[in-house]
Amino acid sequence: KRNSKFAELTPEHVEYFQSLLGSESAIIDNTSSAAEDDVEPFNSDWMRKYRGHTKLVLKPESTEQTSKILKYCNDNMLAVVPQGGNTGLVGGSVPVFDEIVINLSRMNKIRSFDDISGILVADAGVILEIADNFLAEKNHIFPLDLGAKGSCQIGGNVATNAGGLRLLRYGSLHGNVLGIEAVLPDGTIVDDLSKLRKNNTGYDLKHLFIGGEGTIGIITAISILCPQRSQAVNVAYFGLESFEKVQEAFKEAKGQLSEILSAFEMMDGESQILWKKAKNSKLPLEGEYPFYCLIETSGSNTEHDSEKLQSFLEHVMDRSIVSDGVVAENQTQAASLWSCREGVPEASQHWGGVYKYDVSLPIAEMYQLVIDCRKHLSDKGLIGDEDSFPIIDAVGYGHMGDANLHLNVCVRRYDKAVEKALEPWVYQWIAKRNGSISAEHGLGIAKAPFVGYSKNATLIKLMKQIKDLYDPNGIMNPYKYIGV
Ligand code: FAD
Ligand code: MLT
Ligand code: ZN
Repeated sequence: KRNSKFAELTPEHVEYFQSLLGSESAIIDNTSSAAEDDVEPFNSDWMRKYRGHTKLVLKPESTEQTSKILKYCNDNMLAVVPQGGNTGLVGGSVPVFDEIVINLSRMNKIRSFDDISGILVADAGVILEIADNFLAEKNHIFPLDLGAKGSCQIGGNVATNAGGLRLLRYGSLHGNVLGIEAVLPDGTIVDDLSKLRKNNTGYDLKHLFIGGEGTIGIITAISILCPQRSQAVNVAYFGLESFEKVQEAFKEAKGQLSEILSAFEMMDGESQILWKKAKNSKLPLEGEYPFYCLIETSGSNTEHDSEKLQSFLEHVMDRSIVSDGVVAENQTQAASLWSCREGVPEASQHWGGVYKYDVSLPIAEMYQLVIDCRKHLSDKGLIGDEDSFPIIDAVGYGHMGDANLHLNVCVRRYDKAVEKALEPWVYQWIAKRNGSISAEHGLGIAKAPFVGYSKNATLIKLMKQIKDLYDPNGIMNPYKYIGV
């Protein structure tokens, strides 16, 4: 239900924003001029699962403009949704009702880069791939990579504390982000854009914005530590007979590839079949296997790294840990191996929709969730080949190196009966094993009601106190996160 404490947009409000932002491309106004179709992309999320009803999208181009917008909204009790690339997977980036969308896409400048320290300072709206391409020219790499890199923004990445494909190598954004510039709802500009690696001078407040999902302020810029780009990158893809073998392979990879290991991803056979069908393409190996893994190494010496990877593969194949495998011989092949993994999110919603569960679990128990879930859905008569069943399949894949599983329940259409069968069943399953109901995608609207399965009452109370302190009127991304 829409919270009646929030004001409804009036022509006076819109006039204020017009006078502030000036340029036509900075405002999409469906209250009078623009058509419903123009606001649609900002109202609808990547999964086409969540849909809001905003009539106004604002695109500030500076921190000062963002500050003035927020102050005005706060003074006038207008609720807002910060929006980056709108690739989030928990419905956090779109309005629920008529909240104003504040889209950061026009704040897209690289501010500085120091090639000795590797520290990049950039506006929040810079697209991840553009930041990484810029860094590539300087022989550096953005310490985060994910399938949505072509659309997601670095501010959105920080706001969701995205994990991605190489966290096992480069660590989390809580470690790499050195500073943040943000605007609070009352218009205060928080200048904490530190370029220091070490700075123990009291509470480290930037961490509240990392993973804050736009609930206490808008991130307008970040400073981030970027590693040197590796000269030699190798990718291998292999098939395995069981999840036990996947675990053994992971252990061997850590032991033998150690400092050059930069990704270890797991995909079950079902997820790869789905990818193959959606893409109408071929998988890299001849045979079919219950599990597949993708390994990437990044180091400084091509010969040394290839030798290491080759002898690792021989070792795991001799010991029958891995059944079959292929190593990319060039960049095109490496990209095509990666696409079998990075393409799974798109494939999983190809037939209509997807229910996504992004969980952290003790590694040995990780895959059991997929097996139990399939049985649970089949007992309920919801899964099957014919069109009359809402569910096509439940697939598992994810960041093995981080004990982060993605359970995707792929459907022909969004269906309340499926949702009821899955929730809170999945969350209860995870809570029993002391896992996390969100390893990396965040809470958004999807998981706001379920945060109690991963956080105790004391922690939730403290989080609500922080929210109230930073956003006393509750205008920032309401109805989400911790449900306030
Ligand atoms: P949006 O979707 O626009 O916003 C996400 C949240 O952050 C919202 O709550 C929004 O209000 C808030 N927000 C956005 N910008 C700001 C800002 N400047 N200040 C304050 N709040 C803000 N995630 C992973 O962790 N790992 C993955 O491997 C991964 N792979 C993905 C692959 C695909 C194909 C897709 C579609 C998504 C994937 N994601 C992954 C989800 C991930 O959360 C997002 O892709 C990304 O981090 C969000 O960035 P965005 O700019 O699109 O943010
Ligand atoms: C991934 O690892 O591919 C992402 O987190 C996206 C997803 O699970 O859909
Ligand atoms: Zn992921």
